[in-house]
Formats: sequence, structure tokens, C-alpha cells
Amino acid sequence: MDTYLDTTREVYRQAALTPDVGLCCTTTPVWQLPGLQIPKRMLEMNYGCGSTVHPRDLVNNPRILYVGVGGGMELLQFAYFSRQPQGVIGVDIVDEMLAASRANFKAAEKLNPWFESEFVELVKGDALNIPLADSSVEVAAQNCLFNIFKTEDLKKALREMYRVLKPHGRLVLSDPTCETAMPDALKQDERLRALCLSGALPLREYINLITEAGFGTVEIRAKRPYRMLAPGHFQTDAPIFVESVEVCAIKDPMPADGPCVFTGKTAIYYGTSDWYDDGKGHTLLWNQPLAVCDKTAAALAALNRPDIFISEATYFYDGGGCC
Ligand SMILES: C[S@@+](CC[C@H](N)C(=O)[O-])C[C@H]1O[C@@H](n2cnc3c(N)ncnc32)[C@H](O)[C@@H]1O
Repeated sequence: MDTYLDTTREVYRQAALTPDVGLCCTTTPVWQLPGLQIPKRMLEMNYGCGSTVHPRDLVNNPRILYVGVGGGMELLQFAYFSRQPQGVIGVDIVDEMLAASRANFKAAEKLNPWFESEFVELVKGDALNIPLADSSVEVAAQNCLFNIFKTEDLKKALREMYRVLKPHGRLVLSDPTCETAMPDALKQDERLRALCLSGALPLREYINLITEAGFGTVEIRAKRPYRMLAPGHFQTDAPIFVESVEVCAIKDPMPADGPCVFTGKTAIYYGTSDWYDDGKGHTLLWNQPLAVCDKTAAALAALNRPDIFISEATYFYDGGGCC
């Protein structure tokens, strides 16, 4: 019987009772915002591997779901923007984690005059069976949980996020990814998997699973070095480089020719006309950058025109185009 989900719960039961400062940890800076004070214990329980909090996703006061609450730091950051009772719903399967985050929110109340614990509603529940109605939130976030899931469970978790999001809602994710095939010994090590070290998929595979769940638009917002799994420390013959990514997947209708995945590519037309129109909805104004998805970048590159430049993926895309 597969017991990795039980092992995961036990790892996070322990991490709720005694903060494990290095458990996740990245080079992503913790949001510093005017009037926001994060309690020390909440910081020590920052078990994420990037940020899922982007003010740009939070226009029109969305209802926000956060799955896998940890110490609650990102929920406090989301509440900073939403500031309303039950504006943020936190779902976690570990009782001790829910209790720890509840205590951290009480501590946050003392440090932040604007914050009330009731801004966050904590609910016991499973990412694989989210206790929310269909189409009930505008933003859904998870940080460093989904990488733990094996493929069939990951598909289920993504389908659940898709189900609870309203049309055009946003799924914001941060997870480790890895371009090297993970040795079986590491993949099957339940504790390493639970610690977000050995479940990482190649980025393309991770994105494919997201789009297979139905998300028509995907943005890769950041990609950063994360960990080295080196021989002598881990059961591997060669060092394995693990990265962490921040991704936003939008519940847009799926385009007939497949999803739009933005990895930060840009097209620039520099020919002899004022613009170039590809006849598919993309107008490149002379010498102006246009953010393009990988599908459009490939179609433009296939034209082999000497007057269109396509930049490499920056893995740093968060919307926008021309002013
Ligand atoms: C790596 S921690 C990330 C915590 C938080 N997102 C952060 O950035 O600090 C994973 C979290 O997911 C929770 N968790 C584990 N399995 C879960 C499941 N099946 N459903 C919901 N939450 C789960 C754990 O209790 C823990 O809070």
C-alpha cells in the first residue's frame, strides 16, 4: 500500500509542533509591505519555495483559497490585501498545522493593527478533495505542496483547483522542478518526497499536467536555483540540480490550437513597415516588444523572417504587453 500521504502528514505534524527553519527556504525575498509585521514563529514556519502572493492577481477583491497553510505566512500576506472576514480560506489536512497557524494569526493580530484573525477562515480538508463548492473562488494558491504528490494525485489536486475556481480565476503555484530524471530510490523515499526534495518534475511535464487539467493560459513568473542533491548525501551517482518555479495558471477557455504558455519570450519586428500582423491576433509594432506565448513564438520563428526577433525564455513573465 502506498503510504507516502501518511508520511507527509506526519512530517508536517512534526513541522507544526517544532518549526523546521531550513525545511523549504529559497532566495525568494519575503514580502516587505508597509504596515505588515510577520510574527517570528510564522517566519520560522515559512515552508514555501517561492511566493504565490502577487498584488496583480488581487484586483476586484477576490475570494482566495490557500491549500496547505503551513505557518500561515502567505495567508497573512493575502489578507493584507483583502482585509475582510473570510476573505482568505486556508485548507490543511494536518490538525496540528491548523492549530499552529491559528496561534500565529493571533500573534499577527498583536503586531498588525489592521489584521483580524477572522480575515482567514481555516478549514480542515484535503487538497485531493477540497471542501469547497464548484466555481466558488477567484484565486487559488498552493506553495510547495503539489510537488509532493505522485502523478495521479497531482492530476487530482489540479482538477480540484480547477473545479473550485470561477471562470478566468487564477491558480497560483510554487513548486520545485527538476530537469534530471530523479533516481527511483529518491522518488520512492517517502520522507524526501514529503520534504519537497524528490517529487520534482521537469518544468515541461509540470506545465503539461496543469494545462491537461484545463487551464488555457499559463505564466511562468519565476525560476530559481533551489537545491543540489549530491552523492554522499543522497542516493544518487551524480549531483541533481533542483530549481523552484512560480507559476500562474488561468482558467481561460482552452484555445483550439492548445494552451498559451508564457515563458517570457518576446517578439520584436524591425522591418521596413510600421507593423507586422500575423493574421492570428498579434500585431507587432515596429521595434516594440510584444510578449508572446511559446506557441506564437514558435509560429513566428517558423516564418524564418529576417526582420522578426524572438527572444529566449526568461522564465520571468507576469503579464503585460504594450502600453
Ligand atoms: C511544504 S508545506 C507548505 C506550507 C505553506 N504553503 C508555506 O508556503 O509555508 C505543505 C503544507 O501542506 C499541508 N498538507 C500536506 N498534505 C496535505 C493534503 N493532502 N491536503 C492539504 N494540505 C496538506 C501540510 O500540513 C503543510 O502545511
